[in-house]
Amino acid sequence: MIIRVLGSAAGGGFPQWNCNGANSRDVRAGRAGLKPRTQSALAVSANERDWVLLNASPDIRQQIDATPALHPRPGDGIRNSPIAAVILTNGDVDHVAGLLSLREGQPFTLYASSRVLQALAANSIFNVLAPEKVGRQSMTPGTPFPIAGPAGETGLSAEAFVVPGKVALYLEDPEAGENFGTEEGDTIGLKISDTAAGTSFFYIPGCATLDDALVERLRAAALLFFDGTLYTNDEMIAQGLSAKTGQRMGHMNMSGADGSLAAFEALGVQRRIYIHINNSNPVLRETSPERGVVEGAGWEVAYDGMEVRL
Ligand code: MLT
Ligand code: MN
Repeated sequence: MIIRVLGSAAGGGFPQWNCNGANSRDVRAGRAGLKPRTQSALAVSANERDWVLLNASPDIRQQIDATPALHPRPGDGIRNSPIAAVILTNGDVDHVAGLLSLREGQPFTLYASSRVLQALAANSIFNVLAPEKVGRQSMTPGTPFPIAGPAGETGLSAEAFVVPGKVALYLEDPEAGENFGTEEGDTIGLKISDTAAGTSFFYIPGCATLDDALVERLRAAALLFFDGTLYTNDEMIAQGLSAKTGQRMGHMNMSGADGSLAAFEALGVQRRIYIHINNSNPVLRETSPERGVVEGAGWEVAYDGMEVRL
């Protein structure tokens, strides 16, 4: 199985268009030790022919352009695409807006939780993906299924599972109290398996806390891509970028007693890669002390174009 990081940044990308924070400013200026990043998505293939996208970021056109394996295949008709399916982990703009760029009448299968499919159905702009071309399949958490494109199975299977998180920003209900109307299925994680090889990995780009069910699911996993939005819960406030904490956005931070570094310390996950990294995160600076802490703890920081073979 080949996994390709199409985009490694959180919503807004890196640099973010309207951001003059130190990280965005320095990467925009081309300073050494910072790489630009597009918004988070993976591409996965078992056979190097059929590809499955995990999330469809607003940067999808640039990501496809930068990835020859996702270009139309020569000799396979005037219109074609190796993209057989797209799977969504939530309804956030940084994970669904790219669907609008896949609208040129090209068939593929779209998988999401019933909550996220409801959000798409309630936004008629997504009807640019005609239902006879792009079938929408609901994923039941805990039930693995073969990932199939219009031409049949891809050799990959997926299992969605419920993850603590928050409903998409544009669906928040201010009247609903502390959880803004979040329901089960608003945020899911994915286990993707190569059916023939028996290998699998986890993709969890958004996670508010590591509960007991997740701990048991992830223990001793071979490979994990995990929520790397923030290093500290209040870093966006401290940098004057936003009034929101990570917890308010449904993201657990890396550092501290309640952070992901501590939570994974004893779980035996063999390869751990942070993805969905916000432009405020100090780990984006390759020489920062925080980057040293993360790498010292055995984590990697995803970058656009990173390739992992399993
Ligand atoms: C998030 O990951 O918290 C969202 O993508 C935030 C947003 O909608 O910009
Ligand atoms: Mn996001």
